[in-house]
Amino acid sequence: MPLTVAEVFRENADHPAERSSPLMQALLLGAASDWDAGGITHAALQPFAGDPPGSALPLRFAAALHRLVLTGRAPELAEHYPTVGGAADPEGAWPAARRVLERETEDVQQLTGQPCQTNEVGRTVPLLVGLAEVARRTGEPLRLLEIGASAGLNLLFDRFRFGEVWGPPDSPCRLPDPGIPLDLDGVRVVERAGCDPAPLDPRDDEARLRLSSSVWGDQVARFRRLQGALQMAGSHRVPVERAGAAEWLTRRLDDQPSAQGVPVVWHSIVRTYVDPDEWRQVEALTARPDVWRLSYEPAPEPGARGVPLRLFGSGTDPAGDVLAHGTGHGPPLSR
Ligand SMILES: C[S@@+](CC[C@H](N)C(=O)[O-])C[C@H]1O[C@@H](n2cnc3c(N)ncnc32)[C@H](O)[C@@H]1O
Repeated sequence: MPLTVAEVFRENADHPAERSSPLMQALLLGAASDWDAGGITHAALQPFAGDPPGSALPLRFAAALHRLVLTGRAPELAEHYPTVGGAADPEGAWPAARRVLERETEDVQQLTGQPCQTNEVGRTVPLLVGLAEVARRTGEPLRLLEIGASAGLNLLFDRFRFGEVWGPPDSPCRLPDPGIPLDLDGVRVVERAGCDPAPLDPRDDEARLRLSSSVWGDQVARFRRLQGALQMAGSHRVPVERAGAAEWLTRRLDDQPSAQGVPVVWHSIVRTYVDPDEWRQVEALTARPDVWRLSYEPAPEPGARGVPLRLFGSGTDPAGDVLAHGTGHGPPLSR
């Protein structure tokens, strides 16, 4: 039996990440009760009642509401959104959201129909740990190739400031200290490139709004670091090629590189979106002895500890060397 919309929302509200966001809890649980009571959520969400489990319906719905808040169309709800300065109690968010839904039913439906598109720069915190390790093991400059790069923001990682340990002190994108001792002197990136079947151009207002809406409305630190990275991407963009991972890697790994360096293929929270056959191709392509792969993907086992950062390459364990654990959005990290 497929889950009802209410069950999907309640299940999502119980994920560890969502449990850390009182606003998401209030919205998802409020919407679930409204659905069970036959309320306004039926008018907005009925077309998505049969969506497959991995389609992130609750996150698409939350992004639709946040977008109305960010564009000034939901002032009563904005009072509950710290990303726009709101300080009202999260408990009052659902009644406000319901009023917005009653007024903006068609637009919420249309916006919820858009796929979830995020680019979380916090994931460069584990990336930095991984790159430092590849640089330490190889002693070589690095060619960074990102699959599932979205707007390409994470390819700008060396323009971000990590705590007080690394990066330009005046960077508008400020991230936490990785909290793990790192030798960063050897990290030298000589080439960077990315692919995504649905790339976003961070200079485009619509793309910026889409990425900003996908951050949860009470996660101000995430929202600010995204705005900082978007600001920088206006002048330092790394273009992301419109292509799937396997097709792109087939070409890129055999390219004549513009500079000599060790290829490092990096991906964060991408695997679940890629067809299993294509993923097997990615694994085969990156198993070449000259290629390193950094994987930041949730472990499939239920109850696994955080998101592991795994390094695959010459001399690593066949399942990858686990260098650290983090959260779905990157920090905090632990060994
Ligand atoms: C959750 S986002 C993560 C984006 C980015 N890696 C990050 O950490 O912020 C997943 C990305 O995977 C991309 N994607 C989906 N199918 C893909 C494929 N076959 N090959 C490469 N990327 C894919 C999506 O378009 C989306 O941008």
